[in-house]
Amino acid sequence: MNPVTAWHDEHAYFGRLLDLLQEEVDRLYAGESPHYELVLDIVAYLRDYSDQVHHPREDEAFRRLARRCPELQPTIARLQQEHRVIAQSGVRLRELVEEAAVDAVVPRAQIEAAAATYIVYYRSHIATEEQEILPAAARELTDVDWTAARNAAPSRANPLASDGAGERFRSLRRRIASEAGHAPRTLQCSTSAWRALTLRV
Ligand SMILES: [Fe+2]
Ligand SMILES: [Fe+2]
Repeated sequence: MNPVTAWHDEHAYFGRLLDLLQEEVDRLYAGESPHYELVLDIVAYLRDYSDQVHHPREDEAFRRLARRCPELQPTIARLQQEHRVIAQSGVRLRELVEEAAVDAVVPRAQIEAAAATYIVYYRSHIATEEQEILPAAARELTDVDWTAARNAAPSRANPLASDGAGERFRSLRRRIASEAGHAPRTLQCSTSAWRALTLRV
């Protein structure tokens, strides 16, 4: 698969997960209780597979792109910083939701603010990459660059597509299964698999 297409597919997939997270935040706005296990699954998934696989690969692609396109260096520096902020805010959101899930007294406004900030920040980050980085990367990066980026983090099977994944991500797998029937087998999902995937109700 074309690496830029795979990159874009992963963004679309993360975007769908953020949509699900937004639906749970909307419950909070409406004064209802969110599905805490689902929220934890989404944040854990994004922590495990975006912070540990997608972002390290991007960081390597960014380093190579910055050498070829000096005009992109300020944008790339900001995106690299955002990877760290996204990771830290994901940790904070997970802590708050974990506390709330075990009936600790966590002010609702605190969870709302942390989740809304995470979603807005993450969406803006992806949008900048889609608009400013992917087109330049498609133009400038070579097979050697793409291989180096891919090798910056190990490939992992997508646990959301695995029937034998046990309890991990149980809630999120159920939600996805109820809405789409299946998820991509790996994060480097094929375009056809992605097109067939509709996570929203
Ligand atoms: Fe990124
Ligand atoms: Fe990205």
